[in-house]
Amino acid sequence: MQARGPLMIEHRLIERMISVIQDMLARVEKVQSIDPLFVDKVVDFIRIYADLTHHGKEEDILFRDLNGKDLSDEDRRVMNELVEEHVFGRKTTKALVEANTRYRNGGASALGEVIGCLRTLVDFYPKHIKKEDKIFFPAARAYFSEAEDQAMLAEFWEFDRKMIHEKYSLVVSSLER
Ligand SMILES: [Fe+2]
Ligand SMILES: [Fe+2]
Repeated sequence: MQARGPLMIEHRLIERMISVIQDMLARVEKVQSIDPLFVDKVVDFIRIYADLTHHGKEEDILFRDLNGKDLSDEDRRVMNELVEEHVFGRKTTKALVEANTRYRNGGASALGEVIGCLRTLVDFYPKHIKKEDKIFFPAARAYFSEAEDQAMLAEFWEFDRKMIHEKYSLVVSSLER
């Protein structure tokens, strides 16, 4: 498998979650209420899977190694854009958590903000994924030898291996607070 393999497989699961959110949004807009626990699950998925596990491998391994290469102006521009989009995703998720907390505490008016953040995520992720799958990953592959690509793949597996421990150490830390 090429190093981009696991990243593209992860994209497919993120897309499935985006569809779930889309379906939920259609219902939420009809009934004008949302289950805050559903939003918690979305947030957990985005934070732990899409951000920590997936963007983590992109930024800490793929983009790090690309930074050591003589990237074309265009490829560097796209990479910077992708990093900015990850930041945007984090900000949107933070806003979603805050709106969901207000909503859960009885602030019915926060529903609009919860919906707005979910819409933003649903709108943003498919474009981001398409840019990586169709444009950036193929361009990035050209900078690496087969050995370098396989070394990244090995590092991806190691990164994932640690993730379950990181996730539950975060859970315990948050409960200790
Ligand atoms: Fe990304
Ligand atoms: Fe990605």
